[in-house]
Amino acid sequence: LDNGLGRTPPMGWNSWNRFNCTIDENLIKQTADALVDYGLRDIGYKYLNIDDCWMGERDEQGYIHASNITFPGGIKALADYTHSKGLLFGIYSDAGYRTCAGRIGSLGFEDVDAITYASWGIDYLKYDNCYNESIPERQRYEIMRDMLNGINCISTKRPIFYSICEWGVSQPFLWANEVGNSWRTTGDIHLGWESILDILQQQHKITQYAGPGGWNDPDMLQVGNGNLTIDEQKSHFSLWAALKAPLLLGFDIRYPPTDVLGIVNNTEIIAINQDPLGKSVNIAQSTKRMDVWTGELSDGYVALLFNKAETSITINLNFTAHLNVQGELSIRDLWEHEDKGAYNDSYSREVPKHGIVVLKLTGGTKIKEYPDFIDQYSDAA
Ligand code: DGJ
Repeated sequence: LDNGLGRTPPMGWNSWNRFNCTIDENLIKQTADALVDYGLRDIGYKYLNIDDCWMGERDEQGYIHASNITFPGGIKALADYTHSKGLLFGIYSDAGYRTCAGRIGSLGFEDVDAITYASWGIDYLKYDNCYNESIPERQRYEIMRDMLNGINCISTKRPIFYSICEWGVSQPFLWANEVGNSWRTTGDIHLGWESILDILQQQHKITQYAGPGGWNDPDMLQVGNGNLTIDEQKSHFSLWAALKAPLLLGFDIRYPPTDVLGIVNNTEIIAINQDPLGKSVNIAQSTKRMDVWTGELSDGYVALLFNKAETSITINLNFTAHLNVQGELSIRDLWEHEDKGAYNDSYSREVPKHGIVVLKLTGGTKIKEYPDFIDQYSDAA
């Protein structure tokens, strides 16, 4: 969507993955403080987004109000607090008559809600898809876009990042680039490794649709939640970053485990996500046991050697086959933070179970345009 926002994928925090409906204004304020205190704001995590369950009722004029039990100070005060911390504030609603958790939705009230959000100083809207009366997705999501942009109503004069959350049900990659700044590509991410693999294998056919202003959204991060191993969390974070997914943290950052902080504050991986070229990685080779994902950066290439197997394995990166590049390439390991030297033709690494090696490569000569996605994922070899 050409509203000036999302030129690189959004980064921040969202309440849903860890807290579901148990949110209140103290949690959100403490989370704002934590984003600043742990240095996360300063490396890019700028959006503080509340998800479902903040709403109370509509008044006689139709204006929505926050729950006066959990958000007695109201949303504007919370947005003001967030802004005073140098952060941006995001909110949630639903393109149906109720939210998925049964709170009041925006269907039929798009104009008052857009004006309300703008008057509160909202910077980001995540717009869900429950209770939608079977009205086609595109139609419902366009109405809110137009209201946010002030096309059909009093102009809100406030650019609001517009996150389309229709769970990939109507092939949003084909239309959502004109409607929103990101679109969910799948159903919800769950706790656990299987969910991450399941979402990942739905991404390779649509990588070409991501770009500045409009991003594929494979759902928010589960880093720091559940019982993923450190290697699994690094893989999840690296793959999402390289797919140019929104990097929305979902753990309780008020009490961040050191090893989890050490993952999400890897600024070399973040730089892949925020690269101004804005091209997603693509699958270059895939078997049941491993994937090689590669892509272009504004100043080189990135390659991810991903081990899906239950033991450690060696994965080989072939410069011509996987990158379409010939000649000598200088290689840097973005988790070890170490230059590995210059190589011709190929480079191999041992990768731990469910782990990943992320390489940035510079030099060489591109021999043809980047390869198309392959049609088979995981069973391709
Ligand atoms: C479904 C969405 O996909 C989730 O991310 C979350 O927003 C819930 N709804 C909230 O009810």
